[in-house]
Amino acid sequence: MNNGIAILGAQWGDEGKGKIVDLLTEKCDAVVRFQGGHNAGHTLVVDGKTTILHLVPSGILHDNVKCIIGNGVVLSLDALSEEIEILEKNKINIDCRLLMSDNCPLILPVHIALDKAREKKKGKEKIGTTGRGIGPAYEDKISRRGLRLGDLSDEKQSLEKLTELLDYHNYILKNFYDSEIFSPIQMHEKLILQYEAYKDCIIDVPEYIEKLFNDNKKIVFEGAQGTLLDIDHGTYPYVTSSNTTVGGIFTGSGAAPKKLDYILAIVKSYTTRVGSGPFMTELFDENGKILSERGHEVGATTGRERRCGWLDLVSLKRSIIINGFTGICLTKLDVLDTFKKIQVCVDYHDNKPIYKEYEGWEQSIKGVSEFKDLPENAKKYIHDIEVYLDVPIDIVSNGPGRKENIIINKFF
Ligand code: GDP
Ligand code: IMO
Ligand code: MG
Repeated sequence: MNNGIAILGAQWGDEGKGKIVDLLTEKCDAVVRFQGGHNAGHTLVVDGKTTILHLVPSGILHDNVKCIIGNGVVLSLDALSEEIEILEKNKINIDCRLLMSDNCPLILPVHIALDKAREKKKGKEKIGTTGRGIGPAYEDKISRRGLRLGDLSDEKQSLEKLTELLDYHNYILKNFYDSEIFSPIQMHEKLILQYEAYKDCIIDVPEYIEKLFNDNKKIVFEGAQGTLLDIDHGTYPYVTSSNTTVGGIFTGSGAAPKKLDYILAIVKSYTTRVGSGPFMTELFDENGKILSERGHEVGATTGRERRCGWLDLVSLKRSIIINGFTGICLTKLDVLDTFKKIQVCVDYHDNKPIYKEYEGWEQSIKGVSEFKDLPENAKKYIHDIEVYLDVPIDIVSNGPGRKENIIINKFF
């Protein structure tokens, strides 16, 4: 059986990862986030109630499941506190279930200011970031200048580090961006208070994960963003600043590669993208509007409208090469219910997509829970994608709710 399961976005994020992590967590003991930060917005719908998670792993709705934030995550203690407050208001028990690495680089207000100032200066050329300070926080990590969660255990040293870090960034903010600067004292006081609140949740993540595996427990590694937003393999520079692909799991959690048994690609039945950058199959016509409206394609983090287009099998092939997916979960198939014709990009020519046309099924697939009960045209759509990609489609998701799935191959 599979004990180490990865769930990764295969496109530009928002494929429906959160929903599937929540679904699989029913049978798992822990969920680990290993990259990204509160730029993520993962939506869980259970019994009609919606929960949007940004930093807290998507296993939190299952009691007794440990939710672990690995070292690869850039951590905003402000964002974490806000999110926990909302969860607690909704009577979701968090105590002792949320655990984190002391090696997490901290996202500070200065990183958010830098992120926004850069985007503003870039004008039309902007990346379209979420404005959460993700890029600047990762830069500080790589430059070895950053403050990490564990640094806050030493008040004196962390104040010195923070002062040095702010000195460096304030110079740029003031002289290059003509923007507001930050002073260390108040910021540090708040960080120390936050550290006090969370210090009992800090664990040695690699050791903890190792112990879970040794005790035959099941762990889900929850990806954020998607393969095409990967800092190395994505559509650079229109990417996020972390490794969203499979390698990020190992560096971002300390789990060993041999512990991963199954890598699930989350693939939306069409394509969306938030922010700037190339998008081969983007639609500007009525079909794009239908995808946007039926799919409710509005960002779960920033509320921005997502750009919409047809499924792009060429870029998915590339995602498969990079991640070595074991299986696919095809999400939001129900969004295609009303189309007469559906296009799928199977090649590029002169920088333009070449489409294969499919007959739509023009009926609702909501509530269908067995593959055999799907309309023939929907079966053909799924089958052809599977053949082209040469990776089994193990789950089809046909609604936002936890129970709206067709499990084709039960691997968990
Ligand atoms: P994530 O970032 O990958 O977790 O995805 P988001 O939560 O940002 O966006 C996915 C959106 O689609 C959310 O609003 C989900 O509730 C919704 N969703 C997920 N799966 C399905 C599905 O199969 N059908 C429909 N109609 N909506 C879905
Ligand atoms: P989930 O986990 C979709 C995009 C931003 C922008 C680029 C860089 O919900 O799938 P950043 O703030 O990370 O520096 O922005 O990445 N982006 C996402 N797009 N889903 C996400 O997360 C995203 N997180 C970042 O829109 O184009
Ligand atoms: Mg999202």
